Order: sequence, then C-alpha cells, then structure tokens
Amino acid sequence: MNYILAPSILSADFLDLRSQIKEVEDSGAKYLHFDVMDGLFVPNISFGIPVLECIKGHTDLTLDVHLMIVDPNRYFEKFKEAGAQILTVHVEAMKDPAADLKKIKELGMIPSITLSPDTPAESVFPYLELVKQVLVMTVNPGAGAQPYIDKCTDKIKAIRAEISKRGLDVDVEVDGGINEKTILTAKEAGANVFVMGSSIFNHEPAESVKKYLDILK
Ligand code: DX5
Ligand code: ZN
Repeated sequence: MNYILAPSILSADFLDLRSQIKEVEDSGAKYLHFDVMDGLFVPNISFGIPVLECIKGHTDLTLDVHLMIVDPNRYFEKFKEAGAQILTVHVEAMKDPAADLKKIKELGMIPSITLSPDTPAESVFPYLELVKQVLVMTVNPGAGAQPYIDKCTDKIKAIRAEISKRGLDVDVEVDGGINEKTILTAKEAGANVFVMGSSIFNHEPAESVKKYLDILK
C-alpha cells in the first residue's frame, strides 16, 4: 500500500506560504490539500482560485483540491486552469454525481468523491468505478483543528472493503482530526492518503511531516 501525506494549507501561515509549502515538500509530503469553502455548503469561507494560481507551477506536490461548495460543476474548468490535479467533490453537493465525475476526468483532472460524516458509506458506491480516490471526511467539513469523529472509522472500513471486493485501484483519503493516534486508526481501517492541517502547520511543519511518514512506515 502506498501511503501518502497531504498537508492541508488551511492551517498554514499565509504570510509565509511559499516557505511552508517548500518545507512540507522537501520533507516528503506528496500532495498539497487545498480546502475551498464557499460559506454556503459549509459555514466558513476559506480561499479559492487566485491562491491556487499562485501556487501552481511553484511546487511538485500534487494539488489535491477539496471543493466544499454548492453546485461545484460551475467551477470545474476554472479549477483545472488554476492547477487542480485531483478534484474532490461532495456527493451531497451534486445533482448528477456520475455526470460531474465524468466531466472532471474529461477535463484532465483526477476525479475524487467525498462524503460528510452523516452521509452513509453506500452513497458513494455507485461512483467507485468513476473515481481514483474517495475522501472520507472524519470531521464535519468547514474548519480545521476539529476532533476526529470515531463513527467514521467504520465508513473507512466499509468503503475500503467495497473497493477491494470490486478489485478497483482507488485510494481512500481521510480528512479531519488526523493526529498521532487517529492516523493509525484510519490506516488500520484502510485509508492510505492522510490530510493533515493543524497536526502539521500548528507545529514545525518539516519535523511533523517526517514524524508522520515514520509512523506510516
Ligand atoms: C475541514 C477541512 C479540514 C482540514 C484538515 O473542512 O477539510 O479537515 O482539511 O484539518 P485538521 O487536520 O486541522 O483537522
Ligand atoms: Zn479537506
């Protein structure tokens, strides 16, 4: 299993973003997680296309964009142009998930689907053949530094089991409250991509990345 760390810049120091991105990249992270919030699908507003455009071309990290917005298909082309490589959309936010996921792939991005803690694992089963990643939210979307929701562990297991049963090559990403304890819980449940915001950027980012990569070994 290929374990991947995806630091979320939601918790980064935006006055020092260039060096913080370089720190996590040089320390072995492979993705940069980019939490887009519109204040409607989730209560907060975070950042969007101008910030992503600034980052594009200045890092080799895979830009793993998580859209917490209503009607996300309005922005697929714009996020593609801005540099999104993995585009994750909420099953709860789409009228026609199959059509939207096919559109993401047609645009040359890697389609990824996500579900909030109260959404049943089965809600993404119809789309597993259309994605390369399932993001299991382990907190309610909308903010960093929240505690991991324990009931989500069973969803990680259920989704990993369905992927394995179908013989699919689909990553399971987790996002929210991932720390020294919960990263092992999520890994044992079947996750292989780990979004971490506060656990990395609220501490020494380089040291934190190295610590979590060691834990995943
Ligand atoms: C929630 C965000 C957060 C963030 C990670 O909408 O998606 O989960 O990426 O936050 P931490 O790692 O600080 O819980
Ligand atoms: Zn996220």
